[in-house]
Amino acid sequence: MEALLLGAGLLLGAYVLVYYNLVKAPPCGGIASLRGRTAVVTGANSGIGKMTALELARRGARVVLACRSRERGEAAAFDLRQESGNNEVIFMALDLASLASVRAFATAFLSSEPRLDILIHNAGISSCGRTHEPFNLLLRVNHIGPFLLTHLLLPRLKTCAPSRVVVVSSAAHRRGHLDFTRLDRPVVGWQQELRAYADSKLANVLFARELATQLEGTGVTCYAAHPGPVNSELFLRHVPGWLSPLLRPLAWLVLRTPRGGAQTPLYCALQEGIEPLSGRYFANCHVEEVPPAARDDRAAHRLWEASKRLAGLGPGQDAEPDEDPQPEDPGTPSSRSSPLSEEPTVSEPHAIPHNSPDLSKVTHRIQVKTEPEPIS
Ligand SMILES: NC(=O)c1ccc[n+]([C@@H]2O[C@H](COP(=O)([O-])OP(=O)(O)OC[C@H]3O[C@@H](n4cnc5c(N)ncnc54)[C@H](OP(=O)(O)O)[C@@H]3O)[C@@H](O)[C@H]2O)c1
Repeated sequence: MEALLLGAGLLLGAYVLVYYNLVKAPPCGGIASLRGRTAVVTGANSGIGKMTALELARRGARVVLACRSRERGEAAAFDLRQESGNNEVIFMALDLASLASVRAFATAFLSSEPRLDILIHNAGISSCGRTHEPFNLLLRVNHIGPFLLTHLLLPRLKTCAPSRVVVVSSAAHRRGHLDFTRLDRPVVGWQQELRAYADSKLANVLFARELATQLEGTGVTCYAAHPGPVNSELFLRHVPGWLSPLLRPLAWLVLRTPRGGAQTPLYCALQEGIEPLSGRYFANCHVEEVPPAARDDRAAHRLWEASKRLAGLGPGQDAEPDEDPQPEDPGTPSSRSSPLSEEPTVSEPHAIPHNSPDLSKVTHRIQVKTEPEPIS
């Protein structure tokens, strides 16, 4: 009996040691009061995004929850208003799988919100679920949609500089490999999905890198953030029913809470003095070195050009936020759980002067180029 108790005690001690040293996230710190500032968090109705939005609201920011489901988005906004005591938490519809929805969100946001100080690209998927799209849905939701959204909101970020863009990536980017000849090929089966997830997270890291280059001198900085292994629905929702009762308790034991997962994205959004590290990758509230594929400036630039094409931005075309024509959306999803017909929620409309990107400040660090590249 004594041996049994001793064994259990040792096991518990080992677990506590491992949990506090390897699993639990360091707290983020950073700017304490965000009063007067506005943040957008995509996919903020659950998991890491919801906890990120909660902390921003607690610090007094006006927080826009950009979510694909009105029902889940409104419910999350209600919860967050209650929990934070901050009434400035609102929902706006955004389905990153649809370029038309991204444009509609940007138009609604720009016509109703005078500020944008923090843009957090948190939404993500790890699987296509039951949808069968004629394009790479993982790349679309995890990278192309956020790429287009950044372009459309850039003028407002610049007006409000110093401002920040945080792209929630993953350590999975280390397994990523971008094949530019088949970037947008549909993904079929779980093995391809796992690969496509890692590729899209590599795209996140390269995007942050290239965006930082493009935005040098504008006061807008950007960061890629790894939240750590988090107990959320990202992978668990795709686990077969019979495996779920086994995996969920295990995930609860060994993975970070969503609140813990929110710490590094929040650090990137709020920590003072990290501006010189714009474009870098952070984990556990620290800047981290990335493998060669994730610091390849040529690949980053090539991805930028390919993303422009896949986002419906023509060569040399700037994202004009208030322009009307809707882009052709070659891959508007046919079977969405959240219809695009949803009108974005707009609160307190303000008349906003049209601000086009300040192209004069754009510089590029790719050596082979002699001319600065426009942000487009
Ligand atoms: N969990 C981890 O261990 C882990 C590790 C590394 C990185 N990450 C990254 O962390 C981010 C957040 O993931 P999470 O763990 O918090 O997962 P989650 O709980 O599944 O949250 C994902 C969020 O993204 C939203 N979303 C999915 N598709 C969307 C679309 N087409 N348009 C707009 N929003 C969409 C989801 O909305 P619905 O509720 O409507 O589906 C949900 O709110 C992801 O980018 C993920 O890659 C997670």
